[in-house]
Amino acid sequence: MNRKPSFIFDLDGVLVFTDRYHYQAWKQMADSIGCYFDEKINNRLRGVSRMASLDIILERADRKYTQEEKEKLAAQKNEIYRRLLSQMTPADVTDSVRKTLAALKKSGHKLAIGSSSKNTKFILQQVDLAAPFDAVSGGTNITHSKPDPEVFLKAAQFLGEDPADCVVIEDAYSGIDAAKAGGMFAIGIGDAAGYDKADWHIQDFSEIEKIAEELDRKAGF
Ligand code: BG6
Ligand code: MG
Repeated sequence: MNRKPSFIFDLDGVLVFTDRYHYQAWKQMADSIGCYFDEKINNRLRGVSRMASLDIILERADRKYTQEEKEKLAAQKNEIYRRLLSQMTPADVTDSVRKTLAALKKSGHKLAIGSSSKNTKFILQQVDLAAPFDAVSGGTNITHSKPDPEVFLKAAQFLGEDPADCVVIEDAYSGIDAAKAGGMFAIGIGDAAGYDKADWHIQDFSEIEKIAEELDRKAGF
């Protein structure tokens, strides 16, 4: 590491617990077409784009769907999902998240978002969480979803940092794979805390501060 590390955060399931809203919205959509869907299948959708998620869900459908039908189903899910998101408030961000982000900024680290979601800006606005971030790379500025590293490479580029000086925080296996494919460090939290490809495995968001101190010390900052 040649510079003070920058931190790139996934959004859904890391900074905010919108993963449960994704589940509820997909479940309603799947029920409406009589397609089986459960939490285990939902875990496979972490980090995966909206259309790729739909393809995974439709593996259990009793017939094939045309592209036009799929676009309608994805729009139906997004409408339900946005209705759930619109009920979110700043109280939906934990103190641990706000305090850790503030501490990382104070100690001179750059912060970015790297999310596959096309709703990134809407979510940040709903929960009033845009301020600490120097850059936002979301689902609207990428053509390849995680595990492709594009969303994180764009975040590093927006920050003006080398990927080798960036640490990604992820709850998705596909997100850890994306970070490693981009030549970055990776911290696994939540579902990805059990993934051996991550460089660190944490149970609580506040542990990121200790990792930052350790990296700063090693790099001589
Ligand atoms: C990711 C979620 O952050 O965003 C995925 O982990 C989701 O589950 C993806 O499918 C796309 O989200 P959106 O908001 O663009 O439908
Ligand atoms: Mg996530």
